[in-house]
Amino acid sequence: MKNSQIYCERRERFLAKLGGGAAIIPASIFVTHHADCEYPFRQNSDFWYLTGFDEPDAVALFLPHRQKGERYILFVRPKEAVAEIWNGFRWGVQGVLDHFGVDVAHPLDEFSERISEYLIGAESIFFRIGKHPKVEKLVLQIFSQFLDRSSRGGKFPMQLNSPCSILHELRLRKDSWEILRMKEAARISSLAHELAREKTCPGMNEREIQATIEKFFLDQGARGSAYGSIVAGGQNACTLHYTSNNSLLEDGDLLLIDAGCSLDDYYNADITRTFPINGKFNGEQRALYEIVLAAQNAAIASVLPGRNTEQVHLCAVKTLVEGLIEIGLLKGSVDYLVEKGLYRHLYMHRTGHWLGLDVHDVGAYRLGEYPVPLEPGMVLTVEPGLYVNDFLPVPEGQPEIDERWKGIGIRIEDDVLVTNETANVLSCNALKSVDDMEK
Ligand code: GLY
Ligand code: MN
Ligand code: MN
Repeated sequence: MKNSQIYCERRERFLAKLGGGAAIIPASIFVTHHADCEYPFRQNSDFWYLTGFDEPDAVALFLPHRQKGERYILFVRPKEAVAEIWNGFRWGVQGVLDHFGVDVAHPLDEFSERISEYLIGAESIFFRIGKHPKVEKLVLQIFSQFLDRSSRGGKFPMQLNSPCSILHELRLRKDSWEILRMKEAARISSLAHELAREKTCPGMNEREIQATIEKFFLDQGARGSAYGSIVAGGQNACTLHYTSNNSLLEDGDLLLIDAGCSLDDYYNADITRTFPINGKFNGEQRALYEIVLAAQNAAIASVLPGRNTEQVHLCAVKTLVEGLIEIGLLKGSVDYLVEKGLYRHLYMHRTGHWLGLDVHDVGAYRLGEYPVPLEPGMVLTVEPGLYVNDFLPVPEGQPEIDERWKGIGIRIEDDVLVTNETANVLSCNALKSVDDMEK
């Protein structure tokens, strides 16, 4: 299928779900890093999903109440020689008409004068407030004018809704193209983890391993990292979002690496591996690693259509708790410890999240009281861990932790596609058995 056709089909599906409402979806803007330097541009995933257009400042309109040929409108930065000399190519109005399947295109500076006309006749406006201050100001102004004018007749939109539930439900179910791209992100990222483990030895700095991984991402044609890589030796692994990556890798410690790439079209991987820096687990490290691995395998086996992410989490937690009782870090019955959350000083996060164009991807986990059932085409991470340290107090009645366990942080994270049968582990090229982690 031609790439442009994918976006066209997504727009058709989105337009069909809008009913009589008109959607306004802005692109991202540049964000200042410091002084007059900006962060690398990152497109708004909702906008990207529907347009495949990677420029800042644009605004897309989706107008199911208009006739065919007037339903997909894009406001874009116009061609401008001087701006393009400094900051690069722009497609401009004619470019997006020719290459992006747009029905009608306008220069961005006409947005405020044209928006009102496009919205008349729609039953409601779909616009996500709180994210795009410049566009929001204009949308709210127009909406307020519609409310003022409604008493004089005419068909003006009288409701302002968020497009998120419609759009994010679409994004939650990956089509075959998206699955291919996510397999590619996972392939590159898995191999980067393999390379990192091969290179690691005592005396290196965490940052050298970060460089190895991120160079591999770029060498393989990815855009870069999907999120700040976590390269955490020893005790640093107990900081869940550790990103300083600037400590020495000590002989006898473990190294936890949580890193994944983002492709040119923003599909992401999110993978964690933990292994001994000197190639050999000690007894405590091995015992904890085996528990986390057992929990991850059990949780992955529970990723089946009709189950839900809460069941996957519970499956991981139960296996962790069983293992912790066996080695004496918890005491009591599994059910009691799980029910009371008495393991949370050792495992304090959830077991996974949706994965897609965003690393913590959109899509509901619960609808009202009910957990969303897993369906083929959904992709989630499965990432149990154990973090033994003094950060959180040991719950009353639970065993004090012997020093020999402290400072060990372990997480194992894979990217998992729900299928009609057992789950497909997209990141399977990153090895994880105890033997594979040793050299
Ligand atoms: N790398 C972020 C996460 O695992 O959720
Ligand atoms: Mn994750
Ligand atoms: Mn991760």
